[in-house]
Amino acid sequence: MKIKHKNKKRTLMKKSNPKGNPPRISFVEMTQQVLPGDTNVHGTVFGGKVMQWIDIAGAVCAMRHAREMVVTASFDRVDFHAPARLGHIMVLKAQVNYAGRTSLEVGVQVLAENPLTGERLLTTDALITYVGIDKVGKPIPVPPVLPETEEEIQRYKTGEARRSSRKYAQKIPKS
Ligand SMILES: CC(C)(COP(=O)(O)OP(=O)(O)OC[C@H]1O[C@@H](n2cnc3c(N)ncnc32)[C@H](O)[C@@H]1OP(=O)(O)O)[C@@H](O)C(=O)NCCC(=O)NCCS
Repeated sequence: MKIKHKNKKRTLMKKSNPKGNPPRISFVEMTQQVLPGDTNVHGTVFGGKVMQWIDIAGAVCAMRHAREMVVTASFDRVDFHAPARLGHIMVLKAQVNYAGRTSLEVGVQVLAENPLTGERLLTTDALITYVGIDKVGKPIPVPPVLPETEEEIQRYKTGEARRSSRKYAQKIPKS
């Protein structure tokens, strides 16, 4: 099939709606194949590499929601449920759960897909907080999350509760 290069239509992404966006607007699905340089001494994927991929997928999701630059403020949880092997295709799914004033909680799931059978297994999930920042790195307001489905409403409520306990925990010295 011939691909025409003339009169290419450009799709401009809309600015984020300050009144809020549903999670589907910013949903990210990212794939990576596990290469030799991504593995540990057990021949399975290195956890730190998975965290790097999670952070990229999560940050893209947060930026799509806010249409602003963001920084990673904290990783709440990273749970490694099952190993992934060399050659597996890692499928990362990132979704905004909840937005505070300037912060956003993003949930990321990582599935390992066997490239020969197509079988997928949940290997890792994580909760990360990003903060919208301006040109000098100062926090700026982000749009609210407008959940649409029952699952999104549940994620929103639990995200809201976690933000409260995070704020409380931030006040307690770590050492
Ligand atoms: C994240 C950062 C911008 C927060 O700046 P700050 O001056 O402490 O901002 P504030 O105290 O006003 O908090 C801003 C928001 O971030 C949240 N926040 C701050 N620290 C947080 C943490 N450790 N975990 C989760 N949320 C955090 C606050 O709860 C607040 O959320 P809200 O606006 O929704 O209520 C700042 O600490 C920073 O730049 N950290 C370094 C980020 C970085 O280098 N990341 C790695 C590379 S991307």
